Amino acid sequence: MTQFYRALVRAPANIALIKYMGKDDALLNLPLNASLSLTLDTLCTVAEVEVETETLGGITWIPELPRIENSGLQLEIPRLTDAGIARMIHHIERVYRAIQEIFKLPSPMPRITFRTANTFPMSSGIASSASSFAAVTLATAEALCGPQSHTRFENAWSTDFEFKKALARLSRQGSGSSCRSFTGPWVLWATEDISPLQSKLPPLSDLIVLISSESKPVSSSMAHEQVRTSPLWNGRKERAEERVRGATTALKTGNLRTLSQIAWNELWEMHSLFHTCAEPFTYWEPETIAVLKWLKPFFQNASPPIVSLDAGANVHILVEKTQAEAWLERIEQRFPNRKVLVDDNGSGPQSLTPR
Ligand code: DP6
Repeated sequence: MTQFYRALVRAPANIALIKYMGKDDALLNLPLNASLSLTLDTLCTVAEVEVETETLGGITWIPELPRIENSGLQLEIPRLTDAGIARMIHHIERVYRAIQEIFKLPSPMPRITFRTANTFPMSSGIASSASSFAAVTLATAEALCGPQSHTRFENAWSTDFEFKKALARLSRQGSGSSCRSFTGPWVLWATEDISPLQSKLPPLSDLIVLISSESKPVSSSMAHEQVRTSPLWNGRKERAEERVRGATTALKTGNLRTLSQIAWNELWEMHSLFHTCAEPFTYWEPETIAVLKWLKPFFQNASPPIVSLDAGANVHILVEKTQAEAWLERIEQRFPNRKVLVDDNGSGPQSLTPR
């Protein structure tokens, strides 16, 4: 008899202070260097995956909002390109093969449909691949386990960090940075695996100054290849690894100033790689530079901001949560035409499946 099983999951975005840039293995998304990030909270993707057993297999994206009630989240359906849909379908097949193996699920593959939506507006220029691959990986795994294996799945997810790591490894093969969204707030990703990092820092907020909503001139997957042609590439791995060591110690000792300095140097280095590769490109807009210049004097503050930029023009300003409101006012006063998204640090994905 045909059975339906539906899973709903929410997974956050993350912001790397030491960046994943350059791959050792492009098929498996193994990074050239370790990276270190902060997991966010409400800037997230909600994924709904529905499995229909006893029917012919096939995976379909349904461009509708996930069916979720009272989440309190403002959701928008992403405009996925055909290539984006194909990439996600290929990834769901990968998750199916792995979950079938772990939970000894009956073959053949059931029919699978999926819906995704993000809390960040389409026009915000915020990359969604980390949160969407994390959400779809977890929702697919949960839905595939169905009622039979569901208790085992829930136990593994809530008590076994090795299982979480295995799902993060799978997700990484879809999009590298998504593996860091599986736990939080502070996460280290080295070679295959993620690990949570100890921190004595107070809770942080991320204020994202939105500067461009244009689609990226170069995808981050392309950027990972291009940077190798920069004359600054030499020694990049060693410098990044050194920063990871420095940042890990700064977190452990609660040294905001050191972390802020390391993140600042790292952001300039990654973007300098883009600016100096064989076919140079930039994600920056004039106002990106205006914000960076404006921020510089605040590094003298007793509690300096941590500033970072991904492969995009928007500026992330991480500050102590208790100071977030004052920072928001300050940013809005100086850049009145800019929208600012505000989020807190978070702890990773959550299942929202109704019980
Ligand atoms: C600049 O994870 O998007 O945001 O593995 O090819 O999907 P793929 O790349 P992706 O790269 C993210 C690059 C970055 C830095 C970072 O998040 O560490």
